[in-house]
Amino acid sequence: MRGVPQQAELRPPSQSPSRRVMPYDALLLDVTDRIATLTVNRPDKLNALNDALIAELDAAIDEIAGREDIGGVILTGAGRAFVAGADIAELSAQGPFDGKARALRGQTVFRKLERSSKPVIAAVNGFALGGGCELAMACHMRLAADVAKFAQPEVKLGIGPGYGGSQRLPRLVGRGRALQLLLTGEMIDAAEAYRIGLVNSLHPKDDLMPAATALMRQILANAPLAIALCLEAVDRGLDMPLDEALVLEANHFGLLASSADMAEGMQAFLEKRGPRFAGR
Ligand code: COA
Repeated sequence: MRGVPQQAELRPPSQSPSRRVMPYDALLLDVTDRIATLTVNRPDKLNALNDALIAELDAAIDEIAGREDIGGVILTGAGRAFVAGADIAELSAQGPFDGKARALRGQTVFRKLERSSKPVIAAVNGFALGGGCELAMACHMRLAADVAKFAQPEVKLGIGPGYGGSQRLPRLVGRGRALQLLLTGEMIDAAEAYRIGLVNSLHPKDDLMPAATALMRQILANAPLAIALCLEAVDRGLDMPLDEALVLEANHFGLLASSADMAEGMQAFLEKRGPRFAGR
């Protein structure tokens, strides 16, 4: 999923099959009109991420990368939680080496999601705690229901974040606010998460999925290769010195000039009609 997407990843809407549901134990994957809705489905444990669920997420991310009928992903949770964290029952039995291995496995999966060449929107419907907040932060954009709650409560359990929270939270909300959340473990409501920039927008609970779908449709109306390279430029460029990042941007700009979609997009503008992008 990294880098410039394979041609096979990017196909026009006319080639999308209608709906499919793939078999996972604790994930639901529904694909409608090129939008995959991936639902963490372990509601009796508030969608806590056990090792099996992390492995399923890994497989689902690979599946989504490889499916030509998927242009973007909305990630959400079943029931009253988005994800209430890593599974504390499993964490309670870990020692230092398997603890480190667990963290590295989760980090790798979340990073793969973050480096997806297909846009990923978190639709945060409820509790996003610990690994749940970390999962939302690994998505490209976050929309929240007004009932959502956020926290990095690991210090209350005698641990720290393991799935990227100590790194992505300060990058998103700034060092001081991140440290306050990380060191107190306090839970904040959706309005506060919006105020500090942790989420892009707030919605009444029933409007959350329609809003996420509308945003994804707006994105998927644009040129797929351009979308993929914007994602790559932001992901790679933010950790580069500015001059190198600007070269990366210029390279993308030049690369896209060779695409059929650039010709189509500009021709459509000049002809005062909507573009028909083909993803090449
Ligand atoms: N790991 C494992 N199980 C979890 C879990 C987690 N992170 N979060 C919730 N659950 C389980 C509970 O143990 C409970 O299971 P049970 O019915 O078999 O006892 C079930 O989910 C429902 O949770 P419950 O605590 O009864 O709901 P609540 O409404 O009273 O409280 C929370 C909701 C989110 C405040 C509370 O569950 C909580 O604090 N969870 C842990 C959050 C956390 O620390 N996450 C970071 C982990 S690193």
